[in-house]
Amino acid sequence: MGRLDGKVALVTGAARGIGKGIATELAREGADIVICDVLIDAASSTASELQNDHGVSTLALEMDVTSEDSISTNVERAISEMGQINILVNNAGVPPDNFGVDETEADWDRCYEVNLKGIWKVTSAVAPHFKEQGGGKIVNIASIAGRLGGGMASYSASKAGAISITQSQAAELGRFNVNVNAICPGLLWTDLWRQIEGMFAGDHTEEVVDRRERFEAVIDANMPLQREQTPEDIGKAVAFFASDDAKNITGQALNVDGGMRMN
Ligand SMILES: NC(=O)c1ccc[n+]([C@@H]2O[C@H](COP(=O)([O-])OP(=O)(O)OC[C@H]3O[C@@H](n4cnc5c(N)ncnc54)[C@H](O)[C@@H]3O)[C@@H](O)[C@H]2O)c1
Repeated sequence: MGRLDGKVALVTGAARGIGKGIATELAREGADIVICDVLIDAASSTASELQNDHGVSTLALEMDVTSEDSISTNVERAISEMGQINILVNNAGVPPDNFGVDETEADWDRCYEVNLKGIWKVTSAVAPHFKEQGGGKIVNIASIAGRLGGGMASYSASKAGAISITQSQAAELGRFNVNVNAICPGLLWTDLWRQIEGMFAGDHTEEVVDRRERFEAVIDANMPLQREQTPEDIGKAVAFFASDDAKNITGQALNVDGGMRMN
């Protein structure tokens, strides 16, 4: 028996990386999973993998969290094919292409559109369904970058916004029995982080992108537990917030970061 037996979870950006780790942990707890991503081929193969490994029902949908049309069509399809949605995980996110004073307006717009307004748009599409069915769980994936500025102002500001919107949504939706919490992941060696390495080096070739020295140095210098986080770590924290074990927790942002930020 899993903690999420009989539940349906919709996870954005779940084709790979942290989103895939979240979808896997929710499936391990018994939830059926809707994998939403702009990368439909990768989303479909993640969906098949979860179905084979965990025996849950899955649905892969090509959804862009910046498009209201794409969101409403896909949320309706998820409800009609899976019967309900009980858990929403707003995970889709992007880094900027440039760093520091070189950040462009396009970097700011994209980080805001995906990382912050994406949370607002998808939640706005799912919330009426949660109200109608008498409750639901929302988990927003922010970042430790939202706790303290770094070199990527557009990204950090969008993630501070993700923590803030979590509190606003928790205040607004609590009376409808909807819990809204955030996770602030630390450092994970995913495609997103490889893009960040390319950006810092001003070079997106594979050798640069796959170099881990700087990533490991940041962990050694700043993380008391001295180890990187994994998609599974983030997924386990999401599974807790999505379960009834967390029924009296809302509006919180939990750092899963090896102790890098302590507030
Ligand atoms: N990797 C880290 O160290 C780290 C740390 C803190 C927070 N995060 C956050 O975790 C989340 C997942 O990051 P990741 O490291 O797994 O990155 P990733 O690039 O591996 O995965 C992100 C996924 O989001 C999808 N996506 C991007 N734009 C989308 C859109 N408009 N609509 C739908 N899907 C979209 C991508 O296709 C991809 O599958 C992001 O919100 C990221 O900001 C990552």
